[in-house]
Amino acid sequence: MPTTDVFKKDLLIGKIAFVTGGGSGICKGMTEALLRHGAKAFIIGRSQDRLDKAAEELKTKTGGQIAGTAADVRDPEQVEKAVGKAIELFGKIDILVNGAAGNFLASFENLSYRAFRTVIEIDLLGTFNVTKACFPHLKKSRGCVINVSATHHYSDSISKPMLIFLLSFDQIRSRSLAVELGPLGIRVNVIAPGPIADTEGMHRLLPAADTERLIQGSPLQTLGKIQDIEYATVFLTSDAARNISGHILVVDGASWLRQPDL
Ligand code: HXC
Repeated sequence: MPTTDVFKKDLLIGKIAFVTGGGSGICKGMTEALLRHGAKAFIIGRSQDRLDKAAEELKTKTGGQIAGTAADVRDPEQVEKAVGKAIELFGKIDILVNGAAGNFLASFENLSYRAFRTVIEIDLLGTFNVTKACFPHLKKSRGCVINVSATHHYSDSISKPMLIFLLSFDQIRSRSLAVELGPLGIRVNVIAPGPIADTEGMHRLLPAADTERLIQGSPLQTLGKIQDIEYATVFLTSDAARNISGHILVVDGASWLRQPDL
């Protein structure tokens, strides 16, 4: 069922969204959902070609207004430029989605200095850089932020490579930002998707996953779809969530409670 069959189509009219990683996967779906409900979107990612293709596809699908520019979230200068372009085009930013991520599984022994730094730079510094650059605009619009995370770090399973634990910093920072920016009217929330079919995250973080086992092990007996994250996005960015901040919305059918190795 399309998100517009569940939520009013004009829910986000007049809103401008800035989405990192919006050219592919889950974040492309999130962008589509925002457009379908009347928001305009500016997407960034590392490949201009991928962004152009995604923008064209989403324009055709939704009739919404979307543009994008290549920028690496690791580079504050590129991020500032991209935010400047979004402001030039749309005049403001109401919604920030920090979706760009770089992750892989590796043991401590096999993790090089550069590999470790790369993940920290994308996931941790990248989220900081983009939030920092968007902050003056979010302050003006009393906007909201969604940080996209995962569920891997919710259990202390020792079988997990250490990189996974680093994801939790993202959540701690989201909570402290929610407290600090709350008085400015800015809401900060996290969406934590469980395994989502046909996504980069699923290939990277659950490379050997047996789909049937995942479904059987899930209390709701499902494997997540990108659309599940779209519903959560529309809800959290809408006025329906006006008193929700500092929240981590896990979208996984309660799987992590039952399958702690996810
Ligand atoms: C060990 C690895 C590795 C692996 C890369 N490296 N992959 N080490 N195991 N599987 C090492 C490389 O050898 C290199 O170190 C260093 O990491 C940098 O790699 P590059 O390829 O040069 O960097 P770059 O092109 O910037 O690529 C970034 C990347 C890559 C993170 C390494 O995987 C990537 O682009 N990922 C983007 C997509 C992505 O990961 N999506 C995740 C979506 S899901 P050396 O020492 O050899 O030079 C997800 C959900 C959680 O993330 C979200 C929470 C925030």
